[in-house]
Amino acid sequence: MTLNFFDDPKATAQGQSGAPATTAFGTPAVPVVNALNFAPPPASAPSVVASGATAVAFPQPPVSAPAVGDAGLSGLEEINFKARRITVDDKKIINCRADLNQLVPFKYEWAWQKYLDACSNHWMPQEVSMSRDIALWKDPNGLTDDERTIIKRNLGFFSTADSLVANNLVLAIYRHITNPECRQYLLRQSFEEALHTHAYQYIIESLGLDEGEIFNMYREIPSIHAKDAFQIQFTQELADPNFHTGTPETDGRLLRNLIGYYVIMEGIFFYVGFVQMLAFGRQNKMTGSSEEFQYILRDESMHLNFGIDLINQIKAENPHLWTSEFQAEIAELIKEAVELEYQYAEDTMPRGVLGLNVGMFSEYLRFIANRRCKQIGLTELYAGAKNPFPWMSEMLDLKKEKNFFETRVIDYQTGGALSWD
Ligand SMILES: [Fe+2]
Ligand SMILES: [Fe+2]
Repeated sequence: MTLNFFDDPKATAQGQSGAPATTAFGTPAVPVVNALNFAPPPASAPSVVASGATAVAFPQPPVSAPAVGDAGLSGLEEINFKARRITVDDKKIINCRADLNQLVPFKYEWAWQKYLDACSNHWMPQEVSMSRDIALWKDPNGLTDDERTIIKRNLGFFSTADSLVANNLVLAIYRHITNPECRQYLLRQSFEEALHTHAYQYIIESLGLDEGEIFNMYREIPSIHAKDAFQIQFTQELADPNFHTGTPETDGRLLRNLIGYYVIMEGIFFYVGFVQMLAFGRQNKMTGSSEEFQYILRDESMHLNFGIDLINQIKAENPHLWTSEFQAEIAELIKEAVELEYQYAEDTMPRGVLGLNVGMFSEYLRFIANRRCKQIGLTELYAGAKNPFPWMSEMLDLKKEKNFFETRVIDYQTGGALSWD
């Protein structure tokens, strides 16, 4: 496999967590798409994906049928002149054989509604003022070393994590989701992931941080590398050009990818960082950065909710995929993710600060892992886990018109309107 990090005996990510050296994947290795090359000299990093990207030459006739078995259409097939109109009953989330280029008639109203809701929540990173953050960051007595470490490591994790998510959307799952309403949301989500990367870049630039130090952290900081290496496996197997859905095994791999990204990456791996960065804002520190993270959290909670609906719909349409063996595999992945995220909590915050400590994160991660399990129909893994940060739910429930720092009033519902005289 491609987890170079684990090849380095000095750079173990397991620490006290007891997480296994390899993940719970029982599937054969797939061709290397890219590797998160841990700790080599910066100049030696691999750069370009090898295959697939240049395979399509314009003059070639488009394919008229999918390559393999019962896979669905891609949307790239020859346009079948005089073919009959499609109906709602023709549509399904995966392995659909009806034309993918016709958004309507809607079958999955929830997907379309989430697309509309996402558009209503539009925001741009540079709309948030960073002037107070810049003054505080530049003041030698403005923040403690521990507080600065938390900020830098979170920017280090998130600045590349959203690229991994975006890559997974456009290079891995998009072509296998055979429903136009869902694809419409995936396109909107992809743009939001670009906005999130933009927001991190904006904070990093505003504070005058060393860009190389921050953006390369996923190849230098063990706990960050471990989370990303865990995720990229899901992308690699689906981005393989020879991968096709249409069998129980490959449909299961797609479902596992969706759980890996929506439930684990966006639903667990983001949450230590969200709590930490929002905790600054609650103490009236780094309020601009915290506000950026608050908008990102709002987007991410929508991504998570879309992912849960998508996963549950695929389960409903393909109940044979949800075997007890598959559920056990997912439960193991979630347990491993909780350990990796706990390592990240320790790495970002070795000492208690901002009213937080790693013991609280241990409890919190178990609490949210239980929630994620419940949301996709799995048995809870950590009986009795409680939420030590009840204020986090307030962050999600806020009215969008006014942010919780009360520094400014925002109404994105009308922000994008155009008018002509
Ligand atoms: Fe994101
Ligand atoms: Fe996201």
